[in-house]
Amino acid sequence: MTAELIDLTPYGGVEADAAWRDEVRALARERDAVLLAHNYQLPEIQDIADFTGDSLALSRIAAQSDASTIVFCGVHFMAETAKILSPEKTVLIPDERAGCSLADSITGAQLREWKAEHPGAVVVSYVNTTAEVKAETDICCTSSNAVDVVRSIPADREVLFLPDQFLGAHVKRETGRENLHIWAGECHVHAGINGPELAERAAADPDADLFIHPECGCATSALYLAGEGIVPSAQVKILSTGDMVTQAKATNAKSVLVATEIGMLHQLRKAAPGIEFRAVNDRASCRYMKMITPAALLRALREGRDEVHVDLDTAARARGAVQRMIEIGQPGGGE
Ligand code: 13P
Ligand code: SF4
Repeated sequence: MTAELIDLTPYGGVEADAAWRDEVRALARERDAVLLAHNYQLPEIQDIADFTGDSLALSRIAAQSDASTIVFCGVHFMAETAKILSPEKTVLIPDERAGCSLADSITGAQLREWKAEHPGAVVVSYVNTTAEVKAETDICCTSSNAVDVVRSIPADREVLFLPDQFLGAHVKRETGRENLHIWAGECHVHAGINGPELAERAAADPDADLFIHPECGCATSALYLAGEGIVPSAQVKILSTGDMVTQAKATNAKSVLVATEIGMLHQLRKAAPGIEFRAVNDRASCRYMKMITPAALLRALREGRDEVHVDLDTAARARGAVQRMIEIGQPGGGE
């Protein structure tokens, strides 16, 4: 079934007020639950979570947590990844309809066909994939460790990198690797943050740093602006969402142009209140991430829904690839 055929109206009718916060915290304690939120979540969800961070940090925290229940405020593949790592834990996502257009851009069957065309190639899948795709994968990665993951593979081995073409192009540039084949998938939100828009914003604010997520359609343009000297290259930073928070604390810039989903601005403004953060495209909002509303979170904690299940065979086949992902790359991003 495609996302278009499902009613994606979020659960509503609940205010994120003090009574809501008290009930959420009390129910989380009763359920022995840890609340994890991705950086693209609504501000009120980020603020009530025990941890807010990027995909890699949240996967690591989920794997290490002592809590018997993980409430994953993010999209479905993130909750599924937590379940793959911890099959004995109860994993809840407040709204299981929260999918991902990027994860939908390759199926297990398509990957099997691609592998058959490149026997012996190492398969590197972005964490934004279904459990079925992960089960066909050698190593998973996130935007924060994709370059390190590919560098960990012997140079003479062919690599199949999927599903994001812009992240793939970034990894190819960074590693200089010719034997890296890239699947032509994209995230509809990030692909829509385009080069002309970025160039226009950068020209209007030449001293601003540019924080660019590697899934963006404009990542190549950002490097072009740097290469042509239109923006000094030290001001152009290709970063995962977690690394954006780290950079926000380190930069001397007075303003930063941010190319990623707009939920990110909340953590950035909290991390560095003295800096002006502006979205390159303020319409870049992921409707799936925004389905985790205050009402959905309350429902999850009151009713124990929606529980995430991954069949044991798929989980067992996917676990090694996800385990390698959390072992590679530096801690950060909310850990
Ligand atoms: P990171 O948090 O890994 O940078 O990922 C971004 C993303 O698009 C998740 O949907
Ligand atoms: Fe998927 Fe894009 Fe939404 Fe991230 S922002 S969850 S990649 S659709």
